[in-house]
Amino acid sequence: MNKIIYLDAAATYQKSDAVVNAQVDFLLNKYANAGRGICARAIATDDMIARTRARVAAFINARADQIVFTAGTTAAMNMVANMIPVSATTKLLVSDLDHHSARLPFEMQVKKKAGRVFVCNLTDDFNIDVDSIPVADVFVITAMSNVLGVPQDVERIIEAARQKNPNVLTIVDAAQFVVHEKIDVTKWNCDFMAFSVHKIGGDTGLGVLYVKNPERFAPVNFGGGMVLKIQDNDDLILNNSPEKFEAGTLPLTQISGLIPAIDNLEKNRPDLNLIKYLYDELIKIKKVRVLSNRNAALLTFVVDGMHVLDFGTLIGARGVCLRVGNMCATWIHRRLGVDGTIRVSIGAYNTIDDIKSFISYLKDVVK
Ligand SMILES: Cc1ncc(COP(=O)(O)O)c(C=O)c1O
Repeated sequence: MNKIIYLDAAATYQKSDAVVNAQVDFLLNKYANAGRGICARAIATDDMIARTRARVAAFINARADQIVFTAGTTAAMNMVANMIPVSATTKLLVSDLDHHSARLPFEMQVKKKAGRVFVCNLTDDFNIDVDSIPVADVFVITAMSNVLGVPQDVERIIEAARQKNPNVLTIVDAAQFVVHEKIDVTKWNCDFMAFSVHKIGGDTGLGVLYVKNPERFAPVNFGGGMVLKIQDNDDLILNNSPEKFEAGTLPLTQISGLIPAIDNLEKNRPDLNLIKYLYDELIKIKKVRVLSNRNAALLTFVVDGMHVLDFGTLIGARGVCLRVGNMCATWIHRRLGVDGTIRVSIGAYNTIDDIKSFISYLKDVVK
């Protein structure tokens, strides 16, 4: 077996020593539950969570009380879809850039209540067409497609949607965008934004949900840690945000690795020149059809005459880890006119040698 060449950061990012060490240190030396104890370790866990929340808030230009820890982007989207008002008159707007995780929770909720779903236009180069955004009550915006890797102009998109309906609720899926670009939720002026921590070099099982106006929404999950008081008549008085949205024990170990993950990412983003180099090489290969553009954050392609699963198996046997299939993004594949694609995505740890080795294995597989 060859050395592993990991080119699948968009599925999940490899972890740095700093993240692993922080988590091991928490597990070995600092482990205690939060919000439940008055011993020194429990207080230190509370403090660790508060510091991490403040770091996340600074990372996306928000306040700490607007940062809710969830289990990931999917969990955040499902939470929001159940939290917002939906009725038979609701107009949901989505786009074909969406990942199943962003669109399906809202589609299911709106269809259940007999509301209507609209799909916004894309431009010829598959970006959300800002000039033709229709009236919507709820708008799911994918900030960067996990298939095409192009940052959308979220600020302008939201501005255009608000011109049509000032009360539209905007939900931004930043699961891919967060890896490559600075997020500023205040500038975007979105109502909600979510990303998964494992895609920025932290651990699985943890996500960040930004809620612009936490006081406007009631929680959908109930349990420990979110209740300030249960009255004699059993009425609940809830804690303020974010605790009211975080019923149950948080993924403490994963949270303990989040500050180093953000620090690493801010210091060292993936070098997209590697993608440009790969693009320039792949377009020279006759059977390869590149579907993403040269400036994208990842590279997506198909091989004429070869099923993507066959390609994945053959390249996998040479030690290359990448993603093949529909990437949980059926709609953009439909638009591209293919059932599946092959995706190369990189982390800051990838080098030009990884790309050169991949190209030589690819030539071997497609010849
Ligand atoms: C754009 C996008 N949105 C949402 C998700 C879902 O993330 P998770 O599975 O971590 O909840 C992904 C994961 O691939 C993604 O790429």
